Parts: sequence; C-alpha cells; structure tokens
Amino acid sequence: MLATYEDFRWAAKKRLPRLLFDYVDGGAYAERTLAANVADFAGVHLRQRVLHDVSKLETGVDLFGRRYSMPVILAPVGMAGLYAKRGEAQAARAAAKAGVPMCLSTLSICGLDEVSRTAPPWFQLYVLKDRGFMRELIAKAKTVGSPVLVFTVDLPTPGARYRDVRSGLFGGGPSAGLKLALDGITHPGWLFDVWFGGQPHCFENVVPAVGKGASFMDFWVWVRKNFDPTLTWDDLAWIKQAWGGPIVIKGILDPEDARLACEAGVDGIVVSNHGGRQLDDALSGIRALPGVVEAVDGRATVLMDGGVRSGLDVLKALATGAKACLIGRSWAMALGARGERGVFAMLANMRDELKTAMALTGCTDVARAGPDLLVR
Ligand SMILES: Cc1cc2nc3c(=O)[nH]c(=O)nc-3n(C[C@H](O)[C@H](O)[C@H](O)COP(=O)(O)O)c2cc1C
Repeated sequence: MLATYEDFRWAAKKRLPRLLFDYVDGGAYAERTLAANVADFAGVHLRQRVLHDVSKLETGVDLFGRRYSMPVILAPVGMAGLYAKRGEAQAARAAAKAGVPMCLSTLSICGLDEVSRTAPPWFQLYVLKDRGFMRELIAKAKTVGSPVLVFTVDLPTPGARYRDVRSGLFGGGPSAGLKLALDGITHPGWLFDVWFGGQPHCFENVVPAVGKGASFMDFWVWVRKNFDPTLTWDDLAWIKQAWGGPIVIKGILDPEDARLACEAGVDGIVVSNHGGRQLDDALSGIRALPGVVEAVDGRATVLMDGGVRSGLDVLKALATGAKACLIGRSWAMALGARGERGVFAMLANMRDELKTAMALTGCTDVARAGPDLLVR
C-alpha cells in the first residue's frame, strides 16, 4: 500500500527507466532550490488548536468561476505520457474522479483532444518561436473548452539540469534514444506497457509545427530549440486577446513581477520556481509567497507550487496566502508508480491529510485558512 510521497517516489523509481525517473526527480544546478522547496515547508509551523467543533470540514474551493473539491491542481508536467501508458489521459481521469483540475502541458504526449474526452483541462502555454502556430494552439485550447490558460514565463531557456546532461537527455539525439532503449530493456514492465503499448510518443499538441512521423527525440530536440528568449511583458497583450478567457501567469517569484502582472491584467499568478528546475538558489515557493501576496493585494488569485507533498503542506500554503496549490512531482510519481489508480490514491490521501490538518488546527473551511493558523 502506497501512502506518502516517498512511497510513490520509491515505486516510480523501480518502474521507470532511470533516464525518465531522473528527468522527473531532478532539478537545476546543485538542486538547492529543489531541496529548499521541500525543506522550507518544514519550517512553517501550524498552531495546534483544541476544543473547536470540527465535525464538518469544507475543502471545496472556487477558482476562476468553477467549483472544485479541494484547493489542489495537477500542475503542467511535460512528457507525462511516458511515465504511464497514455499518461496524461490517465491522470485526467483520476483528477476528474477526485474533482480537481488538471493543467495540461504544451509538451504533453497526449494532446488536448485526447485529454478533453474526460474533461477539458486547463491549458499551459509555452510560447515557442512560431507565433502563427501559437495562435493556432491557443485557438485549439478554446475550441476544446479549456477553462483557464496558464502562461508559463520562467523558461526563456531550459535550466541547467545536470542529471539530464549525464543521461544524455539534455542534448537529445541518438545517444539518449539508445540509452532510453537500453534502460527500457531492464524495465520490461514499462517497456511493454508504455513504450510498445502507449504509442505514438510524439508531443501531440505541437505536431502541426514539427510534422507527423518525427521520432520522439526529433520532437525533444525541436522543442528545446524553439523556446523563445525574446518574450516580454508586451507579449501578454496578444496572448490575452487571442485567448479571451481567464489567464494565469506561472513562474512569478518576485513582488515587482507580481505587480507588473497585475498591471497587465492577469486573473491569476502561480508563485513558482518551476519545481527547482530553472534558477538554482532562487527562493522556494513557500518563502516567496508572502511577498507576492502583499504585492498583488487582492488584484488577482494567487496560487503557489514547489515542494507540496502532502495535505499538510496544502494547509500551510493556504495559511501563507495562496488560494490553492499546484502539485507537480506528487502526481508524476504517482502516475509512474501506479497509473490512474496511483494518481487517484495520492489525491485521496492528500484530501485526508488536509482534512486531518484542518481538524487539528480548528480550521473548518479552506476559504477561511489564513495567517492566524500559523505560529509567528
Ligand atoms: C517532470 C516535470 C516536468 C515539468 N514540465 C512542465 C511544463 O511542461 N510546463 C510547466 O509550466 N511546468 C512544468 N513543470 C513544473 C511544474 O508545473 C511545477 O511548477 C513544479 O513541478 C512544482 O514543483 P513540485 O514538483 O515540487 O510540485 C514540470 C515539472 C516537472 C517535475
């Protein structure tokens, strides 16, 4: 029986080829921000309160006009269709069953059409160099009925991830392909179920730009070459106009950027360092959160991610000012470990942990979780 994040991580490590596990598990440079995301949650202390009536606990939350069962969102995670067979479609089913939103990455294996058969996901946008194609992709998200566009801004260029350098994934090309194949042979469960059983393995959303028939590694190399370092705040205007719905900007850590985002008229902000995968020694998500909340001053919905591994962490984030949390590795590891079943079990555990933490702090409604829950 898998219960905690470490349990799912252990099971995913056994099942997945090493190159893939390291891609999910790893971070940038010396991985200090990755570690701080988790460690800084441990430094937040909740007040234990007693003799409150906690027989009824409300975990439901309204986000951008829709009601969800708890303040947790599956964060956009690239290539999840390689962690389990048609992985994003499996995760979407688990999220729908649990009543939480899933945000689909631009760089997912399963495309918007396939995932929307369960429920239209929130859609995460990487703005790549070809702007004509970007407009088509935004239009596609609109057509399938995605309720929220999440524009990721902390990846003008991929971070320095040395586990991927060592594995060969960073450069892509034949050596990485060969390594993945060899890795696969020593993980036959994954090889037959996911690699042979889960084809095609292209980044479905970007097929119109890359072309049909390209190999998985061709896609990988194309994508890495096409992140656009010229993006500025001015680009937000055409993206907003092309989209026309709720827009959330993901990858804000600095209060000054949070102010600029509010002036540009975003509906939401995700306080995020991309799970410690970009700028090492940047602040952890939970430490950056109060400064952003203050700068936003109620003008946009503030979400956060980075290091959320349990329902206890979720309550700490809400008490620190977030309306909801995104989880990345928590669902990616659960998917790699047990597929749809794993993601659903992980979400059920997270809800139980959240409710227990609420009961023990005397908080009966997540909407009322605030700084008074924290030890100062
Ligand atoms: C394997 C992996 C792939 C990711 N791919 C994307 C992506 O395609 N788009 C994006 O905006 N963020 C991506 N992220 C960042 C997550 O959305 C999220 O910010 C991060 O995982 C949160 O930290 P956590 O993993 O500690 O929960 C990725 C993260 C991981 C671990």
